[in-house]
Amino acid sequence: MKRVLSGMQASGKLHIGNLIGALSNWVRIQEEYECYYFVADWHALTTGYAHPEDIKASTEDLVLNFLAAGLDPEKCTIFKQSQVLQHAELHLILSMITPLGWLERVPTYKEKKDNLQERDLSMYGFLGYPVLQSADILIYKADLVPVGVDQVPHLEITREIGRRFNSLYKKNVFPEPEALLTEFPKVTGTDGRKMSKSYDNALYLSDSPEVTEKKTRTMQTDPARMRRTDKGDPDKCPVFDLYKVFCSEAEQAESAEGCRTAGIGCIDCKKVLIKNIFDVMNPIWDRRSRLMENPGRIAEILDAGNARARKTAEETMSVVRSAIGFK
Ligand code: TRP
Ligand code: SF4
Repeated sequence: MKRVLSGMQASGKLHIGNLIGALSNWVRIQEEYECYYFVADWHALTTGYAHPEDIKASTEDLVLNFLAAGLDPEKCTIFKQSQVLQHAELHLILSMITPLGWLERVPTYKEKKDNLQERDLSMYGFLGYPVLQSADILIYKADLVPVGVDQVPHLEITREIGRRFNSLYKKNVFPEPEALLTEFPKVTGTDGRKMSKSYDNALYLSDSPEVTEKKTRTMQTDPARMRRTDKGDPDKCPVFDLYKVFCSEAEQAESAEGCRTAGIGCIDCKKVLIKNIFDVMNPIWDRRSRLMENPGRIAEILDAGNARARKTAEETMSVVRSAIGFK
């Protein structure tokens, strides 16, 4: 069976954009592959080193959301990066053979640095972000890595680093992982921009049903529809962007027609969307609240996942150590 590995950085709460984009995909493929999924809490330090307490909170929320979204600890291994010290050891070794030029060329490096001007990111660890990610992937000898397109350069450097290790130490330790790209619909936020925690336009998995309902009910609409009798254009409306993600074709057609002819009001239109969001979210909210009442269960799942991950990682590390003649 092919092995899958993916991680999510613990920085901030998860929103339904992350659910639709990544997590639902993880849930789907746990049925087909041997999957390892983890919270990248060390990676969160690369930009969040000044506030580790936030990383701790995000890590807990992330694990809760993994489980609430339907990752099943019987089917996949769920763990925390910082609990598998072998990642740090491999990161160290790979850092010795990774040319600086490769790292400086990674597009996310410059982008993130420019986008987060308020933080001082002229740090060693920040530049080495892709080396740590390579270690995450290579240590499990992953075949497939489900990620968004933005992560493709990280996969490329992972293959390069793995190849370099194999050729330097004349031992075929690391297979070449491939990105498992799924075309995700872009999820729009309540203001029409891409849903993102930095825009304050997101529906969070941790939002209560009441808050979710209110945020959706007060979403921006086509500005041309000031009054109930004004005709609108669904293509200019963020509500309709969410229709494309959550509502059936028939519902889309009906509301689009009602919008264009002023046959329905925005309130009615949003009601249909809210119902569909609730259909997706209800089981997630249920599982979230059941798990929150039982924190011991979450700890147990993580302990077991960490132990399983450690075992696999240690198997690779013993081969790595012997390849470089260190025992
Ligand atoms: N860099 C990834 C992101 O920002 C998170 C991540 C860290 C990751 N290590 C990984 C993803 C290993 C896949 C595999 O989304
Ligand atoms: Fe948007 Fe629906 Fe109102 Fe049209 S009817 S403007 S699609 S909310």
